[in-house]
Amino acid sequence: MEITPSILTADFTRLGETLEEAVAAGIDWIHMDVMDGNWVVNRTVTFGPALIRSVRDRLGSEVTIDCHLMTTNAEETWDQFADAGADLVIAHIEAVDDFPALIDDLHTSGVQAGCVLNPSTPAEDVLPLLPTLDLVLVMSVVPGKGGQSFMPEVEGKVRAFRTAIDEQESNGGRAVKLMIDGGIKDHNAAMVAEWGIDIAVVGSGLINDRGTIAENLAAINAALE
Ligand code: DX5
Ligand code: ZN
Repeated sequence: MEITPSILTADFTRLGETLEEAVAAGIDWIHMDVMDGNWVVNRTVTFGPALIRSVRDRLGSEVTIDCHLMTTNAEETWDQFADAGADLVIAHIEAVDDFPALIDDLHTSGVQAGCVLNPSTPAEDVLPLLPTLDLVLVMSVVPGKGGQSFMPEVEGKVRAFRTAIDEQESNGGRAVKLMIDGGIKDHNAAMVAEWGIDIAVVGSGLINDRGTIAENLAAINAALE
């Protein structure tokens, strides 16, 4: 299981150094939490396309950048993140009116399409989209900030997606990555890997004042052994 940092708990005045520290530790995927101050529960604003552009310019093309859009208008703004250098745009099923059209728009622009669902949203709301998605992101916290407690009740949903994706891929269908986001630490990483997660987003578990990114990543990877 791959680990990708969310930068929400980083010191944004040192973000460049933090990102290079992550890459030096072996990270090759960055998870960018875009919040528009409206859609998420605590009305937080984080950053927009300009930061994605800066991250892309600083890290180059070797690193995968996904944009987790916690916004009300992903259908109108997805292209700003694509133009800024995002490899994937991951939008919330709860916030998008016509998801198939958004997937088409993204694919037409050469960007991968991800769909993310809140802890309370059933897998059935996203399963019909699997044949055209590149990634499904299961939230294991309520979106809005880092450092929250993991919600184990999403296990059934993760396993349902794992089963459906495996079946689709074994029948020659599109490959779909399964990602989880929220509350992942060294003590629960092996559990979600066993559930069938391909990529885990880790924010406060990787970027904190208890250790370097390399040390924190090593602890998580050791737990995955
Ligand atoms: C929450 C974000 C998550 C969060 C993860 O709205 O989508 O990516 O930053 O942070 P931790 O790992 O600290 O829960
Ligand atoms: Zn996120």
